[in-house]
Amino acid sequence: MKKGAVTFIVMNTAMIYPKFGENPSYDCWLAYRRVENPEVLKEYTDTFSGISVHGESVVLETALKELRYGLSKMLGTVPGTAGDGESGIVLGLCSEIDILSEDDVSGIEDEGYIIRNKKGRVIISGRTDKGVLYGVFSFLRLIQLETPVKEMNVAKNPANRYRMVNQWDNMDGTIERGYAGKSIFYRDNTFTEDKQRVRDYARLLASVGINGIVLNNVNVHYHETRLITKQYLPEVAKIADIFREYGITVFLSINFAGPVELGDLPTADPLDERVQKWWYDRAEEIYSFIPDFGGFLVKADSEFRPGPFTYGRNHAEGANMLASALKPFGGVVIWRCFVYNCRQDWRDRKTDRANAAYDNFMPLDGQFMDNVILQIKNGPMDFQVREPVLPLFGGLKETNQMLELQITQEYTGQQKHICYLVPQWKEVLDFDTYSEGKGSTVKRIIAGKLYPQKHGGIAGVSNIGSDLNWTGHVLAQANLYGYGCLAFDPDKSAEEITEEWVRLTFSSHPYVVKTISDILLKSWRTYENYTSPLGIGWMVNPDHHYGPNVDGYEYSHWGTYHRADCFGIGVDRTVEKGTGYAGRYHKENADLYNNMETCPEELLLFFHYVPYNYRLKSGKTLIQHIYDTHFEGVEQVEKFKEQWLSLRNLIDADRFEHVLERLEIQLRDAIEWRDVVNSYFYRKSGIPDEKGRTIY
Ligand code: GCU
Repeated sequence: MKKGAVTFIVMNTAMIYPKFGENPSYDCWLAYRRVENPEVLKEYTDTFSGISVHGESVVLETALKELRYGLSKMLGTVPGTAGDGESGIVLGLCSEIDILSEDDVSGIEDEGYIIRNKKGRVIISGRTDKGVLYGVFSFLRLIQLETPVKEMNVAKNPANRYRMVNQWDNMDGTIERGYAGKSIFYRDNTFTEDKQRVRDYARLLASVGINGIVLNNVNVHYHETRLITKQYLPEVAKIADIFREYGITVFLSINFAGPVELGDLPTADPLDERVQKWWYDRAEEIYSFIPDFGGFLVKADSEFRPGPFTYGRNHAEGANMLASALKPFGGVVIWRCFVYNCRQDWRDRKTDRANAAYDNFMPLDGQFMDNVILQIKNGPMDFQVREPVLPLFGGLKETNQMLELQITQEYTGQQKHICYLVPQWKEVLDFDTYSEGKGSTVKRIIAGKLYPQKHGGIAGVSNIGSDLNWTGHVLAQANLYGYGCLAFDPDKSAEEITEEWVRLTFSSHPYVVKTISDILLKSWRTYENYTSPLGIGWMVNPDHHYGPNVDGYEYSHWGTYHRADCFGIGVDRTVEKGTGYAGRYHKENADLYNNMETCPEELLLFFHYVPYNYRLKSGKTLIQHIYDTHFEGVEQVEKFKEQWLSLRNLIDADRFEHVLERLEIQLRDAIEWRDVVNSYFYRKSGIPDEKGRTIY
């Protein structure tokens, strides 16, 4: 082999991860249980007798550390250092490993990896150290899944260039829309001491291929505005050092009015030269602390956040000003499209919040600098249980784009309810925009496959906090895992991701795998059934967004209405009579949505005002459908509880009891949802349930 194997000292693994390995809830999918099958175990210990490492970098050191740690736990021994020509694991950069031929690595891109079983050795390699790290985590998964060595042949590239999580953490320690405790980064307007927790998070993220993190909430308040100044940059740099070990780049959310709020300038006008210089100086300072800083995430002119509109400028002018400041240092601006009028008059039936992102950003297509990426929520409203895909996807053709998903379950049960979102995200990623004819899917657009000159990726609002189990509800860990998997490989099926997660997290016992997978895969539809029907969304208590309140947002200024009366319900978004939203899609989708008869029924009330006695394809009337789904939703939760109870002696008592407790809350609250929603529609319509069940 070209370069000699770099030797590392075998470390005491307990010292590296004091928390990992002590509690299954904390370990998430990195449980690394001992390999059970004795034959497989023997094959592993025989084959993985040593490790040779090729190449040198911080991330490669992490890769080796992870490999040793994982193997020590799953095999019970730590492989030593192997010399050239010996059997074992060959780890490192493609360019440094002689026994790899060009064929072996052809098609492998920047952050991709291969696992190859060759000449009695298993090679884990990539073109870059990040690729190697992803290869290690993938290899460790194969071991946990007890894959025979001869089947260890994988070659994989990440589909998306940016695979990010957005923390909505505030420096006071709270997390906006956080349901798993406090921030692991901040407490009392300073940084937390417990950097181990941060490192463990980096590890979890890297293990599913995440390569970027925004460290603070998109709503940037007093203290967070100062994160880009000397006051906090040394602390931000410490966090960046930790994430760097795991190949993760750090970004910050900024306050567009920073120059004013920090008392330096009377204006934040993006066309003012003083403002431009101010941001350049900030960028220069940031990069002096964090040379590989990723860039800024910006929420501007949205929900009372300042932005370029204040100065009569458009969003391209605002974003480009920041992009110019970051460009010399290699940074990017991620600019959110969640821009709408949140002071709407509910009596006004023409203004439609659903149109806002499209109408604000479509005219600017092609005007953004090449280091600006627009971050676009999956739907036009706000992370509801069901929404159509925002038509900016497929609309914008000359702008870098990123998809924003919400891993944290703001409107989907707040981690009290099981609501596994992978099936929802799959639908979004697979959605065909028809922008260049059939096959113009969202996943191809964000991966830069449809418009190759444009790049992008995917961002997810994180669901973790200081709770010992990270996500509040243990089963919500599956959402973080699934998100990472899809960011890397949007073609992976929901079933595959789910089964893998259960086996890594709990056990490979077939009954456990079948039962938990079944619960997870049905949970989104179940949640939808007992909450808001057929794409209409909302119907929750204002502000905190939990619990049923059908008119909670009906007469408010937020632009989120269902328009129910005694004859029917739904928002007319047709081109002819409604708000025109349906017409913002390419023809294939526009025609489909615009017509009540062809509109996919799960989105019927999003696009149309529908009489209660309208017959759905099932033959049921709309009102009967509402009643039935609400009863079914609750019945399904009862079933989940039964299924869970059958796992009593098959999984550890802690997690068993924890999920059971949450299921009891879910059941209680699902009943509440069912009865409030059904009673509301019964009282509005006066139409009784055909099945004569109790409605109040
Ligand atoms: C939602 C959410 C807010 C968040 C906002 C955003 O409206 O409720 O908490 O700030 O989305 O995405 O900016």
